[in-house]
Amino acid sequence: MSTNAGSSGADSHVHRWEPPTRPGAPTLLLLHGTGGDESDLLPLGRRMLPGAGLLGVRGNVSEHGAPRFFRRLAEGVFDVPDLHRRTAELGDFVDAAAERYGFGRDDVIAVGYSNGANVAASLMFSRPAALAGAVMLRAMVPFEPDPLPNLAGRFVLLAEGRLDPIIPAAQAERLAELFRQSGADVEVEWQETGHQLTPKDIRAVEEWLVRRGLRS
Ligand code: MLT
Repeated sequence: MSTNAGSSGADSHVHRWEPPTRPGAPTLLLLHGTGGDESDLLPLGRRMLPGAGLLGVRGNVSEHGAPRFFRRLAEGVFDVPDLHRRTAELGDFVDAAAERYGFGRDDVIAVGYSNGANVAASLMFSRPAALAGAVMLRAMVPFEPDPLPNLAGRFVLLAEGRLDPIIPAAQAERLAELFRQSGADVEVEWQETGHQLTPKDIRAVEEWLVRRGLRS
């Protein structure tokens, strides 16, 4: 396990790397919500996909001390130029981390919560080859891609809350639609709950991983 911080390549983000313990297992790119850090989703990653490589990353933006992956102007209103710049920075970081730690670049699956889910969606839209797929927990539309990317062969799970006060259901539906129109294999799991994750979300993710043949 290692922790690093710096300014470029694999040093551009504070992160933690846990190598896979199962040969050939994918790498989970773990992206926290606002105010979280590189360690937040490690327990979830270990539980979701035992044996996977885990790359926990801290967002480079500070909102009054709360780490995020890109700036926002208000709740749900994003600074889109900053989003694009930070998304590219994150994509470059994953490329460099793959070289440093020796994980395959073709089987990285993002697992993001809230702000981390939104940057995962942004990465898929702007660099379609960056991720094999993504689990987005409480995600909304980061930006409207035009033209749509080609995400054929990529897989997406959206886990959303019908009562989420931060993400209107229409936003989540629109995100699913954008992924579908881009050719991704999309599933949406709804819970009758708010922005916080519940055990039902985790079960839904685990069942989805089984359906995808990634977990037994
Ligand atoms: C965001 O700002 O990315 C999300 O809407 C919610 C959050 O992170 O608080």
